Amino acid sequence: MNRPKQHMRLQEAQNILQNNWRDGFTIPCDRLYPFQWNWDSGFVCLGLRHFQMERAMRELRMLFSGQWDNGLLPHIIFHSETETTYFPNHPFWQTTVNSAAPQRPKTSGITQPPVHGFVLEWLYRQDRGKPAMEAFVRELFPKVLRLHQFFYQYRDPQKEGLVFIYHPWESGRDNSPLWDDILNSIEIHPDQLPAYERKDNLISQPDDRPQQRDYDTYVYLLELGKKHAYDGPGIAAESPYLVQDSLINALLIRSNQSLIYLGKELGFDTGQIEEWQSQSCESFQQKLWQESIGSYTCYDLRHQRPIYQKEIGSYCALFAGVADSRQAHLLDGQLRELVERNFYLCPSFDVDSERFESRRYWRGPIWPQMNWLIYQGLKDNGFSDTAQLVRQHLIDLIDRQGFYEYFEAQKGISDELEHGYGGGNFSWTAAVYIDFLQESAGRLLV
Ligand code: DGY
Repeated sequence: MNRPKQHMRLQEAQNILQNNWRDGFTIPCDRLYPFQWNWDSGFVCLGLRHFQMERAMRELRMLFSGQWDNGLLPHIIFHSETETTYFPNHPFWQTTVNSAAPQRPKTSGITQPPVHGFVLEWLYRQDRGKPAMEAFVRELFPKVLRLHQFFYQYRDPQKEGLVFIYHPWESGRDNSPLWDDILNSIEIHPDQLPAYERKDNLISQPDDRPQQRDYDTYVYLLELGKKHAYDGPGIAAESPYLVQDSLINALLIRSNQSLIYLGKELGFDTGQIEEWQSQSCESFQQKLWQESIGSYTCYDLRHQRPIYQKEIGSYCALFAGVADSRQAHLLDGQLRELVERNFYLCPSFDVDSERFESRRYWRGPIWPQMNWLIYQGLKDNGFSDTAQLVRQHLIDLIDRQGFYEYFEAQKGISDELEHGYGGGNFSWTAAVYIDFLQESAGRLLV
């Protein structure tokens, strides 16, 4: 795409972020996701920082206005109590079962991948030396630290430095085939499931979305969380889905690293974080790497076994900085092989698995924010050619198909499509596009 055209696309990306702005925060997508989402907001900040740093700061502040007293940062903050296009909305969550939840804003009771430490570092590096930024980081640092404390306190019962999740929504990869075996083994009796009505599949194409059975298990696990006041111990004892996720733990490690950097810059004590970090890095390497498939995997803590599936979380170990040189080369080689086999990078699930589905949400498509994470990790590990492919494939897809939530990975199919999948005018897609272009095309925005 030539420069004027790309400039127009950049303008379009800015307009999307503008239109999705709701007085203090950015919704991911109109109607489909009409509130503030946790990790979405983090990625939005990475785009906003290039043209409205002030707004990026407000975005993050607003997100943390929903933090619970025990440190949990919920995956949704329902700043508006009158929106009706989303299920499960705030009355369904009933977070008042836990006294640590704020009265207002209303929130969900589970969390999402901890991107906030490194997002704060990226904002800081951009405006390093400016008093407003320093004050901002001083304000946010203790809140992000509280979140990490929450993870280590409530989600690591064996104190091994690897934290668990108890709901697929916490992984960010809702209906990944990773969870199939666990979710299929859950027997749900009709009286364990309250009546509910989905809205997502009325707004987005049903073929792009999770299936009904997936939603039943999401609601079942939500009810289980509610029963235990969304608190660690009861859930660890009872939840059939208890997973040490590669993505969550990789991002926690990367965010620890950012907190250590920021803490040293601004004179905060980082002793506790450094202790977490050394244990987490070691456990991640020992427990999550599976030599037989050449991949980092998730670990099913309930059934005490690795989930032997190759998928996108594995590549985030590069961003966490835990992979040794041989492992890093293996991961890089896998991505390059996908390119040779006519895939755009990075499919979210093993393309050779019978569970791969090229358009259904997390069962195969390319996700913009994942390309951002993998791009950074590849660069950090010296694989700049592959990093450029990861970046360029996403830019080209957006240029051709628009600012969708996710994209087709198979070249043969994708090249025939005029659009991506899921929601349109999507905030993190716009934000990642801006960040990718600003970094390499020589600051097109002013
Ligand atoms: C959804 O509603 O699809 C989200 O992924 C859960 O937060």
